[in-house]
Amino acid sequence: MKTAIVTGASSGIGFATAKALAAQGWRVIMASRNPEKNERAAKELQRLTGSGELIPMTLDLASFRSVRAFAKSFLEQQEGLDVLINNAGIYTSDFQKTEDGFEMQIGVNHFGHFLLTHLLRERLAQSEDPRLVVVSSVAHIQGQIDFDSFREEKGVYKGFRAYRQSKLANVLFTVEHARRFPDITANCLHPGGVRTPIATKHSNWYTNLGWRLLTPLLISPERGARTSLFLATAPEIKGQSGGYYDDKQRKRNLVPQARDEEMARRLWEYSEGVCSV
Ligand SMILES: NC(=O)c1ccc[n+]([C@@H]2O[C@H](COP(=O)([O-])OP(=O)(O)OC[C@H]3O[C@@H](n4cnc5c(N)ncnc54)[C@H](OP(=O)(O)O)[C@@H]3O)[C@@H](O)[C@H]2O)c1
Repeated sequence: MKTAIVTGASSGIGFATAKALAAQGWRVIMASRNPEKNERAAKELQRLTGSGELIPMTLDLASFRSVRAFAKSFLEQQEGLDVLINNAGIYTSDFQKTEDGFEMQIGVNHFGHFLLTHLLRERLAQSEDPRLVVVSSVAHIQGQIDFDSFREEKGVYKGFRAYRQSKLANVLFTVEHARRFPDITANCLHPGGVRTPIATKHSNWYTNLGWRLLTPLLISPERGARTSLFLATAPEIKGQSGGYYDDKQRKRNLVPQARDEEMARRLWEYSEGVCSV
């Protein structure tokens, strides 16, 4: 039986990804921050799929301590790992900080996953077809990396600017990961505009309203999970690394700031420093 870890599996695209993998007979570790919600989601998926292999485990990507505790428990309690899906994500309109003092969106969407991937890499590499799947967003194409914004609020906080930056960091991380660890198939993706609560949980009233008005135009979480599932399981992707795929599973060209090798290396080294790895 193959094993996947899906971060943020308690909701939205992660929930749909976990559901599809469980239905295909995978063991799925549902790694999410709220234990009660995660437990409920696992029960719901067991009911929907008939799978007994949905394992909820607590992971708060806004805390390096929690990421390390999760990795330790996983490595002690579980045996294999074939696919790591870095899916969890946050959008917030207001400036917030992680436990370790980072701006919340770069902290959760990038640094938490950077550390998680580092801690699980050795185990992942033991799989005969190891895969890393990173859920980014088309928003990254307008992103810019500004190292000075990682810890401090600079001027007026713009939630979308921080979100776009974090999603560009996802792509740079994937490309650099593919370069450094060619034996692990690593790709990233845009899932589409998906009907989930992401833009309503920590948003100001007008973003919240805008997202709700957009809702009828958005695709279902099941459709939004398709590219993650494709990159995690399709035989033709084995060994094809460093790509960015759209919601129709098409590989897309990278925009200049996403193929900036020097920036990818700097971000990687900076992330190693802050994660103390
Ligand atoms: N929806 C879209 O249109 C869209 C478009 C492009 C990209 N994406 C990306 O798709 C991914 C999934 O988002 P979604 O739309 O499915 O949103 P969602 O329904 O809000 O799901 C996000 C998941 O991430 C979890 N999460 C948030 N902060 C966390 C933390 N500190 N530690 C651990 N887990 C945390 C959430 O937990 P809680 O439920 O406890 O908050 C939830 O399980 C994100 O990376 C997002 O950037 C979404």
